[in-house]
Amino acid sequence: LPVQHSIRFDENGAPISTLFEDPFFSRRDGPAETAHTFHGGNGLPERWAGCSGFVIGETGFGTGLNLIETIALWRACALPEAQLHYVSLEAFPLAKSDIGASLQAVLGGRGDRQDLVAALLDALPDAWPTGGPVRLVMHNVTADIVIGLAQETLPDLRLSADAWFLDGHSPAKNHDMWSPDLMRAVFDNTAPGGTFATYTAAGWVRRNLQAAGFIVEKRPGFGGKREMSRGVRPA
Ligand SMILES: C[S@@+](CC[C@H](N)C(=O)[O-])C[C@H]1O[C@@H](n2cnc3c(N)ncnc32)[C@H](O)[C@@H]1O
Repeated sequence: LPVQHSIRFDENGAPISTLFEDPFFSRRDGPAETAHTFHGGNGLPERWAGCSGFVIGETGFGTGLNLIETIALWRACALPEAQLHYVSLEAFPLAKSDIGASLQAVLGGRGDRQDLVAALLDALPDAWPTGGPVRLVMHNVTADIVIGLAQETLPDLRLSADAWFLDGHSPAKNHDMWSPDLMRAVFDNTAPGGTFATYTAAGWVRRNLQAAGFIVEKRPGFGGKREMSRGVRPA
């Protein structure tokens, strides 16, 4: 750390990590994947009804697409005074210009997202510090981007997340983000009754999440994926 994390775009304009040789989100439709997998899998926005505060943890900030889509949903569905705390773990942050280009590629045609993209780019530092967190405040949302390897930063965070977005690149290409120790740290940083959702249904990842203490179930996946996983920390 820090490692230069660069991107290239595939033939459909979707950003691909050159470090992991893996896309940052669905090549077909990133926002729809966020809605199906991370929001739907965690029971959002239904769980926000009447709540005054909510905490989301994310493994892998990437381009910030999940953050933008989540702020958009929060803004539309949560009580006006309710506060969202979004904590995202990122070891290899993208250059601000690459985040801007990625978001332009995926959300450029979405007039209803332009103010959030602009707010995010405005709030992001021009250069990332070597240690985190970087705090961004947008709408009623405080986002902390914790810079460092998730397996090193999460055990000390003492989060009580209501929901987790497990989004650390394909497990086959990035074992570290799905290891037994990290899944245990995710569990330990989840509130009783809190949930996780992820696009993967890889057996070894589900076993790691089960061994950590989550009740894990499969759901129909998004796009080309037959299955995804979601689960709950028993109350
Ligand atoms: C699939 S991308 C996340 C996509 C993101 N949620 C979005 O909305 O664009 C996975 C991210 O995890 C980061 N990452 C990979 N291994 C990591 C590790 N061990 N600790 C922390 N971050 C890691 C990568 O740099 C990458 O940005």
